[in-house]
Amino acid sequence: MRSRWRVPDDILKRKGKTVPQIVVLPHHALCPDGAVIEAPKGQSICDALLANDIDIEHACEKSCACTTCHVIVREGSASLNEAGETEEDLLDKAWGLEADSRLSCQAIVDEADLVVEIPRYTINHASENH
Ligand code: FES
Repeated sequence: MRSRWRVPDDILKRKGKTVPQIVVLPHHALCPDGAVIEAPKGQSICDALLANDIDIEHACEKSCACTTCHVIVREGSASLNEAGETEEDLLDKAWGLEADSRLSCQAIVDEADLVVEIPRYTINHASENH
């Protein structure tokens, strides 16, 4: 006899929300059309971008020693871990700093969806071109 067991609705709802999404706004070089990617809880924004072929710079290999992985978190920033003192100090030197700026290698995804903008320039480009 076939079972009539059905997946409870609350499991279905949770299933739909297990992996947060990051909406990546268009960037002229790295992601011209923008993208929607998935980022498991606990992953850094930088690693999520790289895992989805969005080749954000990460000159210090994600060790919180540069500003090349700078992003602006347009939505969902409150869900991220707090920026540490070193990150804050580095961000002061980032090109296009805004209130919701983060170093993407230090910003860890939680359960909320995010909207992320990659600034047009990094400090490397800014010093070369301006
Ligand atoms: S890659 Fe250098 S601070 Fe993120």
